[in-house]
Amino acid sequence: MATERTLSIIKPDATTRNLTGKINAKFEEAGLRIVAQKRIQLTKEQAGVFYAVHAERPFYGELCEFMASAPVVVQVLEGEGAILKNREVMGATNPADAAPGTIRAEFAQSVGENSVHGSDSPEAAAEEIAYFFSGLELVG
Ligand code: CDP
Ligand code: MG
Repeated sequence: MATERTLSIIKPDATTRNLTGKINAKFEEAGLRIVAQKRIQLTKEQAGVFYAVHAERPFYGELCEFMASAPVVVQVLEGEGAILKNREVMGATNPADAAPGTIRAEFAQSVGENSVHGSDSPEAAAEEIAYFFSGLELVG
């Protein structure tokens, strides 16, 4: 499998509970390398652009408000098959369905406040990485 990069976000419910280090440990234990990372405060509008694919879903407004409610940590994870591997480490969207040991099983509070985002395809990863990081910030 090829080396890939994926976009990860540690969401407000996790940054406010001081879980950044514990979540990063899960990534590193799974063999994912954090090759870029920054803590930022999104506006509701910036969150809305990021989640535009969900604009018609009933939870969209609440999701954008949540993502802008406190700082997030945006990161680029690199590794063999990183996109799928990260989705496995994250666990299912609804923590009630997430496999034991996954980030969402251990830390998520609800289907909305579920601690992490991860790109779901190579196309999404490229677009999402470019939304938050310039080439100069990706040192590998
Ligand atoms: O994050 P993931 O790719 O697993 O799920 P998604 O279907 O792409 O949904 C994006 C985000 O919207 C989720 O991570 C939740 O924070 C939120 N969501 C929600 O609030 N209620 C739902 N029924 C589904 C998703
Ligand atoms: Mg998604």
